[in-house]
Amino acid sequence: MQMAVAEARKGSGFVQTNPMVGAVIVHNEKVIAKSYHAKYGGPHAEVRALQAARKKHSAKTLRESTIYITLEPCTRQGKTPPCAPTVMASGVKRVVIGATDPNPHEKGRSSIGQMRRAGITVTTGVARDECEYLIRAFSKWINTKHPFVIGKVGMSIDGKITHPSQQQYITNPKSLHRVHELRQETDAILVGVNTIIKDDPMLNTRLKRPESRLSHPTKIILDSRLRTPRNSQALDDNTIIVCLEGVSHKQRHALAKTGADIIELPLQKQQGKLLFETMNMKALLKELGKRGKTSILVEGGSFVFTSFINQKLIDEFYIFVAPYLYGATYLPFTYALKHSVTIEDPQPEKLGDNILVRGYAKYN
Ligand SMILES: NC(=O)c1ccc[n+]([C@@H]2O[C@H](COP(=O)([O-])OP(=O)(O)OC[C@H]3O[C@@H](n4cnc5c(N)ncnc54)[C@H](OP(=O)(O)O)[C@@H]3O)[C@@H](O)[C@H]2O)c1
Repeated sequence: MQMAVAEARKGSGFVQTNPMVGAVIVHNEKVIAKSYHAKYGGPHAEVRALQAARKKHSAKTLRESTIYITLEPCTRQGKTPPCAPTVMASGVKRVVIGATDPNPHEKGRSSIGQMRRAGITVTTGVARDECEYLIRAFSKWINTKHPFVIGKVGMSIDGKITHPSQQQYITNPKSLHRVHELRQETDAILVGVNTIIKDDPMLNTRLKRPESRLSHPTKIILDSRLRTPRNSQALDDNTIIVCLEGVSHKQRHALAKTGADIIELPLQKQQGKLLFETMNMKALLKELGKRGKTSILVEGGSFVFTSFINQKLIDEFYIFVAPYLYGATYLPFTYALKHSVTIEDPQPEKLGDNILVRGYAKYN
């Protein structure tokens, strides 16, 4: 199943709004085929793995084989025919499944029962945590139509998010590599306009692989008054600028010329809110969900992190910690929070001299 999870990851960035799925076929303890869902609308992982197995092996070998699939096969006609009938028709004797299907449309139509009734031995819940983690964005989006939100920050041990030299990254190349892997698998990156003005980031995916295998998330800039400089590197036709209703047509027109899409949100009632929280982020997430964005990577800065945490909108944190103390003069990860947050079951990972702590957010 670990191998199937690694296969699934190969579809990262290309399968949304479907989940990443991998499949491995084993005969007499030998892997005879493996594959993954490679492209939205394309054949699913188990179907591709079975096709690959059939090319090299007899029907008898398949009947003696076990297929490991990270996600329960689907039973509904979507962009492709349902997978469960293909698995049953293949004759495999055993199916091992990681995660069950979170799709509410699949409720009551479990392929697990169908396959068992067809005489196949079905085992479920193998490496469930890893398999459910693979599809966490899909699970949220398919059930709520809101994107899964990851808060990613690079900071010093004393929680500062700006480097004393302003020009340099706080975290090391290994951490940066992980950030780009995250960008590869998410549908959008969101930042505040101050980050655009101060850092002029590109906000694209930079991994060592051919451009055809890279996925660049849509860049979203929170900018209520359209202060984004027209020559910002992040501006192109894969950018959304979010502003308040009633901004000047002239500014709108000038920024739209860069190819950026501009979404206007109504003014949020200010009661008890911090000054910059004039735009309703829940309304924005709903709109992004409607546009098929299943996941958003919130990359800062301090105002944006504070606002998203205060509205309980971050589902998971990726906190990269570098071995420095910068002191009080630099920007903090967050300003005053309305409630504390617990990172549930934190997963620490050493990345050279940095430490990555990731886990789901629990708001207290
Ligand atoms: N180490 C890291 O991981 C990291 C990541 C990103 C940035 N940074 C650093 O953070 C610094 C910028 O951070 P910052 O806190 O000054 O600004 P920011 O969070 O980048 O931008 C905040 C601005 O975004 C606009 N905004 C619109 N809607 C908002 C909402 N709902 N919530 C929050 N902001 C909203 C507001 O401007 P309007 O009122 O004009 O709309 C607000 O002033 C940069 O120096 C950058 O280097 C560090």
